[in-house]
Amino acid sequence: MVFVRSLVLLLKFLFLYSLFSFTFTTCFPQIHPKCHGDESHALLQFKEGFVINNLAHGSPKIASWNSSTDCCSWDGIKCHERTDHVIHVDLRSSQIYGTMDANSSLFRLVHLRVLDLSDNDFNYSQIPSKIGELSQLKFLNLSRSLFSGEIPPQVSQLSKLLSLDLGFMATENLLQLKLSILKSIIQNSTKLEILFLSFVTISSTLPNTLTNLTSLKKLSLYNSELYGEFPVGVLHLPNLKILDLGYNPNLNGSLPEFQSSSLTNLLLDKTGFYGTLPVSIRNLSSLIILSVPHCHFSGYIPSSIGNLTQLTEIYLRDNKFRGDPSTSLANLNKLSVLAVGLNEFNIETIPLSFANLTQLHYLDATDCNIKGQIPSWIMNHSNLACLNLRSNFLHGKLELDTFLKLRKLVFLDLSFNKLSLYSGKSSSNMTDSRIQILQLDSCNLVEIPTYIRYLDDLESLMLSNNNITSLPNWLWKKASLKNLDVSQNSLTGEISPSICNLKSLMSLVIP
Ligand SMILES: *[C@@H]1O[C@H](CO)[C@@H](O)[C@H](O)[C@H]1NC(C)=O
Ligand SMILES: *[C@@H]1O[C@H](CO)[C@@H](O)[C@H](O)[C@H]1NC(C)=O
Ligand SMILES: *[C@@H]1O[C@H](CO)[C@@H](O)[C@H](O)[C@H]1NC(C)=O
Ligand SMILES: *[C@@H]1O[C@H](CO)[C@@H](O)[C@H](O)[C@H]1NC(C)=O
Ligand SMILES: *[C@@H]1O[C@H](CO)[C@@H](O)[C@H](O)[C@H]1NC(C)=O
Ligand SMILES: *[C@@H]1O[C@H](CO)[C@@H](O)[C@H](O)[C@H]1NC(C)=O
Ligand SMILES: *[C@@H]1O[C@H](CO)[C@@H](O)[C@H](O)[C@H]1NC(C)=O
Ligand SMILES: *[C@@H]1O[C@H](CO)[C@@H](O)[C@H](O)[C@H]1NC(C)=O
Ligand SMILES: *[C@@H]1O[C@H](CO)[C@@H](O)[C@H](O)[C@H]1NC(C)=O
Ligand SMILES: *[C@@H]1O[C@H](CO)[C@@H](O)[C@H](O)[C@H]1NC(C)=O
Ligand SMILES: *[C@@H]1O[C@H](CO)[C@@H](O)[C@H](O)[C@H]1NC(C)=O
Ligand SMILES: *[C@@H]1O[C@H](CO)[C@@H](O)[C@H](O)[C@H]1NC(C)=O
Repeated sequence: MVFVRSLVLLLKFLFLYSLFSFTFTTCFPQIHPKCHGDESHALLQFKEGFVINNLAHGSPKIASWNSSTDCCSWDGIKCHERTDHVIHVDLRSSQIYGTMDANSSLFRLVHLRVLDLSDNDFNYSQIPSKIGELSQLKFLNLSRSLFSGEIPPQVSQLSKLLSLDLGFMATENLLQLKLSILKSIIQNSTKLEILFLSFVTISSTLPNTLTNLTSLKKLSLYNSELYGEFPVGVLHLPNLKILDLGYNPNLNGSLPEFQSSSLTNLLLDKTGFYGTLPVSIRNLSSLIILSVPHCHFSGYIPSSIGNLTQLTEIYLRDNKFRGDPSTSLANLNKLSVLAVGLNEFNIETIPLSFANLTQLHYLDATDCNIKGQIPSWIMNHSNLACLNLRSNFLHGKLELDTFLKLRKLVFLDLSFNKLSLYSGKSSSNMTDSRIQILQLDSCNLVEIPTYIRYLDDLESLMLSNNNITSLPNWLWKKASLKNLDVSQNSLTGEISPSICNLKSLMSLVIP
């Protein structure tokens, strides 16, 4: 009896309760905003400190923030689903302009895990030291946000960071990072997966402890004024995919024997790296971009590079590499960029196997001691936008308008070979060509090829050291022309006054 009565009571209670909560939630859906009042207040106070620059890139996320709505629903804000604390502030590209207060209310949001203020204009403010209070941060992005000065030591208190991006390209580096602070970051933020400090002046050697960051996936120290020997152990980090040390001319180092590796981008442009590419480079089986131009590398390109079938871009320009790399490279049929110019190569001919590299859009082989003829199948490489074969020993007669087939070509340099170029039978319906820069110095030309007449985008025309005797009148109608060099030819007579029609002309050499 007692049992039945209490059951009835319980059912009554449940009924009333569900009725109540039903009415409650339907009639007053937002009576309890999720957002904590102090956090909402802190965000609004932050908003008050800035103006919106409508001319800047992005959209003004903070403009719509106001106290009559739940801050968890504001543009760029996310709250924790259980505690309702603000954990995520994403104000990337939000047209924010103004100085960041050292005491900004933003740093009262101590539960933040994500803070992205990138691509705004903080008017050269210092990064406030209070950033250290955001101890839960996992993701911090202040890239392209016009902060300047010393990075405060408190950044190293952010021991949960997975991603730190302070990189920013300006005319000069705006941020500086002391070595001692970098060391503390490395010591404390041991979980870092992404560390971008490009264009941050570090101006020191790198500590060996960098190799302790075993979770590191992406590291960029581009243009950080580094010097000394690079801690080569970093190249053995098991998760590292992207390594960019570019533009640190005093940072030297050499490539180690590679074991299996996740590296996709190895970028060492204009560094002091020296030595050879090791045979074990074949172990970098995920490599997509190998970029080592303007370094001090030497020796032969190991044929094992041909095993790296994922490679799409290879930059070796301006080193001291030797030999003939062409057979090893010919297997890499995903290649779109091949820049091997200015080395000590010695290439007998452009091998037939290159006919398979149909994705090529950029081929730079200046000063490669290439002999033989320009193969006709090169005209089938319809993706070519840049073809630079300057200063080789290529010979043979060539009709210039065969290059008309390369509809994407914007840059062509055949200068200083042993070629004999002819005009060809080009006609006015071939105006699809997009060539902007045409360099044909020392190509045994006896006249300006008529082909040139139909190049509507032509900006630069270099024809020095030929045997051209006269300049055609149509040349003075090429309004797009900015640079013209017809020096060292057999020109006689006077230059037509129509030359004044070339309104865009910036440089002219006609001695
Ligand atoms: C507050 O924001 C909401 C949504 O963006 C908007 O509809 C409302 O007009 C705003 N109120 C005030 C006072 O700005
Ligand atoms: C930006 O900085 C300059 C120089 O410090 C200052 O004069 C100007 O008021 C600042 N602008 C804003 C919006 O804070
Ligand atoms: C920072 O803010 C706190 C509380 O908002 C205040 O007590 C303190 O004086 C401020 N400090 C500075 C340097 O503005
Ligand atoms: C940081 O922000 C910039 C600009 O908004 C973006 O390009 C970059 O990828 C971001 N960095 C990371 C690590 O997400
Ligand atoms: C390392 O992180 C802890 C916890 O955030 C902090 O107390 C300590 O000061 C940090 N050490 C340095 C050198 O920043
Ligand atoms: C970090 O690296 C240093 C030197 O390379 C080493 O002595 C130290 O034990 C490492 N710390 C950790 C936590 O692995
Ligand atoms: C490496 O760099 C240091 C300092 O920049 C320099 O003294 C040294 O000669 C360099 N070593 C090599 C092999 O380039
Ligand atoms: C790395 O390369 C070397 C030399 O080419 C080779 O002996 C070794 O087995 C390779 N290691 C792995 C893990 O592939
Ligand atoms: C790597 O290259 C060697 C020699 O060219 C070849 O024998 C081997 O099969 C290649 N391995 C892979 C995985 O492509
Ligand atoms: C082009 O590639 C195909 C298939 O990979 C191969 O059979 C052929 O021999 C290659 N041609 C040249 C000229 O290397
Ligand atoms: C260009 O014109 C010639 C004759 O004037 C014609 O035979 C040829 O098919 C035309 N080419 C194109 C691409 O239209
Ligand atoms: C230039 O052409 C003239 C005749 O047109 C010829 O006599 C002369 O040898 C040629 N010069 C060169 C360098 O080819």
